[in-house]
Amino acid sequence: MGKTSKDKRDIYYRKAKEEGWRARSAFKLLQIDTECRIFDGVSKAVDLCAAPGSWSQVLARKLNENYKKALEKGDASPPKIVAVDLQAMAPLEGVIQLQGDITNTNTAEQIIAHFDNTQADLVVCDGAPDVTGLHDMDIFIQSQLLLAALNITTHILRPGGTFVAKIFRAKDVSLLYAQLRIFFPYVYCTKPSSSRNSSIEAFVVCKDYSPPEGYKPHMLNPLLTHEPCNFDELTGINRVVVPFVVCGDLSQPDSDTCYPLDYEGKEYEYHEPVQTPISPPYATALSLLANKDTDFRKADVSVVIENEGPSSISEFKKRALATADRRSHTETSTATKTALDENKDDEVVDVLQNLYISEKSEHVDNN
Ligand SMILES: C[S@@+](CC[C@H](N)C(=O)[O-])C[C@H]1O[C@@H](n2cnc3c(N)ncnc32)[C@H](O)[C@@H]1O
Repeated sequence: MGKTSKDKRDIYYRKAKEEGWRARSAFKLLQIDTECRIFDGVSKAVDLCAAPGSWSQVLARKLNENYKKALEKGDASPPKIVAVDLQAMAPLEGVIQLQGDITNTNTAEQIIAHFDNTQADLVVCDGAPDVTGLHDMDIFIQSQLLLAALNITTHILRPGGTFVAKIFRAKDVSLLYAQLRIFFPYVYCTKPSSSRNSSIEAFVVCKDYSPPEGYKPHMLNPLLTHEPCNFDELTGINRVVVPFVVCGDLSQPDSDTCYPLDYEGKEYEYHEPVQTPISPPYATALSLLANKDTDFRKADVSVVIENEGPSSISEFKKRALATADRRSHTETSTATKTALDENKDDEVVDVLQNLYISEKSEHVDNN
């Protein structure tokens, strides 16, 4: 895959790099703000599940603008932003960073400690688990993150404050809405145009924090029970229909469309990502790439071939090259050899893999 292919496929990824945001998610928060005015008057905010930090960048920018405006009126308190994530985050000016799991009481207590006797105006949470592909499991973990975020919010949000969080619009989402409505009279489900239509992600915007009278925040309250619940039995005030708000008007690019690189007549220039991950799981591969002497044809990284267990690339190449030799007259074999001559390792592996799989299926057909 070429360096520019993701730029072609994903306009928000490209724009994020051009505008200096660490992730394309920045546009989601900005578009939610355009529709729901979530930053008005905000000087203290918490960013839960913040890495790599594009929402924190947006918060820093918006809260500083608010501070400048407030200074002109002579009534200003300096911005305070606390950001938390499981993963390490590169530093950002004006953002206090914590590393920890928001479902863990210790992390929650550390966040709360930063607000010693003060309260936040806004809590945002873009938390997403590493999806497993098992939908029920992913949705369950996502809702646990949301509830952990809500629990922390009940400790630090000032009455009247705003909570914004990612949700998955799935089967039990009405239960989440109903639980959020216990704490907030206004709950909206928003879908920014930078969030792909193909994704079940959406964002709840909950305004005017008003905990029920006598409610004492604590960390022990599992809000979701695992008992099956028939929502059709809920009626009247108990059945909540949450307004669905699309954010970002038709002039904004569509996140599911591929745009030409010279979009809107602007001359295209490639930009490196603003902030690369600090310790990504593919660090070993990057270090191999950084070493110009690495010959990927010799690098022993494992590959998985359909219906077979993992094998090392060198072992796989040996078997596939033997296949190419037997079929030296074919077009595929010529392509393999050209790719090898031109030293294009990724193409070699692709071509060899196809060749190997077709040889295997012919073998099966012939037997
Ligand atoms: C979509 S990313 C957030 C992107 C971020 N809003 C930005 O703009 O850069 C989701 C983040 O959730 C974090 N996360 C997932 N589970 C978490 C947990 N239990 N505690 C803290 N962070 C968590 C992941 O580490 C990941 O960085």
